[in-house]
Amino acid sequence: MTTLTDKHIVLGVTGGIAAYKTPDLVRRLREQGAHVKVVMTDGAREFITPLTLQAVSGERVSHSLLDADAEAAMGHIELARWADLVLIAPATADCIARLTHGHADDLLTTLCLATTAPIALAPAMNQQMWRAAITQQNCQQLRARGVQLLGPAEGAQACGEVGAGRMLEPLQIVAAVQQLFAEPVLAGLKIMITAGPTREALDPVRFISNRSSGKMGYAIAAAAQTAGAQVQLVSGPVNLAVPHGVSCTKVESAQQMYEACLAQVAETDIFIATAAVADYRPVQVADQKIKKSQSEMQIALVRNPDILAAVAATQQVFTVGFAAETQDVEHYARDKLQRKNLNMIAANLVGEQLAFDQDDNALLVLWADGQQSLAQASKTVLAQQLVGLIAQHYAAHTAGSAN
Ligand code: C5P
Repeated sequence: MTTLTDKHIVLGVTGGIAAYKTPDLVRRLREQGAHVKVVMTDGAREFITPLTLQAVSGERVSHSLLDADAEAAMGHIELARWADLVLIAPATADCIARLTHGHADDLLTTLCLATTAPIALAPAMNQQMWRAAITQQNCQQLRARGVQLLGPAEGAQACGEVGAGRMLEPLQIVAAVQQLFAEPVLAGLKIMITAGPTREALDPVRFISNRSSGKMGYAIAAAAQTAGAQVQLVSGPVNLAVPHGVSCTKVESAQQMYEACLAQVAETDIFIATAAVADYRPVQVADQKIKKSQSEMQIALVRNPDILAAVAATQQVFTVGFAAETQDVEHYARDKLQRKNLNMIAANLVGEQLAFDQDDNALLVLWADGQQSLAQASKTVLAQQLVGLIAQHYAAHTAGSAN
């Protein structure tokens, strides 16, 4: 289950160049379990074909208010009632103006008037059109009526200009839509999450590291943010965008990660350690690149501090660890839960297309007197389920400590 499972989304597509991103948006929404029905304006059909959107949505694409077949069954009313959300992406300046003034001369504007579902818009237009006083006034009026505006983003535009007016990327729109539906189970809480690998320098160009991609930690950061938490990521080097609304401290070594985390413990309610922290670091870091003069060499290593155990030892924070094991997962994870004095631990079996550097994972979540398996799924879906479990146990824990 995700926040979008079985949600009905009417996706309105209007005539802007960003319409070319909507097939991906439909796919991403469906990946999260949503059902998507697309309504296109005439302008949208100049940029992208209904056939493409029909193929990716698995539903008939509607466009005309005067379509005799559809309207025999009152198509616009049916769609207006079916929707849990009307999402318009891209929403052009013209679409925004027409919605502001209550036009009902095409299928999309008509169903927006006829629906009781929330409406969200992802504006996309030239930066000057976005800045224009009338567009800003229109947006203000729509916001005042409860319409959600998602974006726009800033950056390079198809017209060659640079500025605010780009449609948010499909994944950002999905995250924002999740937020509209999400129960704010972590509202008001401060959560710190470590993610990614660490790099332990040998010399100025070499380091010891591991295969962690950071995907699980970043997915948990996004899910926690969606659930209303204020999220601080402390991340080793990864190739991932920091989720919208999340703060991030970038570090390289275990020692730096340790210092960044301990410095912020006092302002943290929940600490989730997903980072694959290197257990050892070279005793000495050479000032210059080490030359291959010997046929064999030995590198002396020293233990890194255990960040999670150190945070747990402060006893100020609800701690959640991760355990990546290659065998006997439950036994080793329960041992780690006790040894590091954690509140919860999420364990996974490494390998078989799971865990390290993979998109999918499966978890066994353990706490002092119970456990729950989370079946194989994408890390995004698992992160949402895990955040739900953490919220439940944190609430029980704080209620317990208050008694
Ligand atoms: O002891 P082990 O490395 O298996 O424990 C894994 C858990 O401890 C993970 O949650 C990991 O992020 C955390 N950890 C840590 N600092 C270390 C080693 C592990 O925070 N130095």
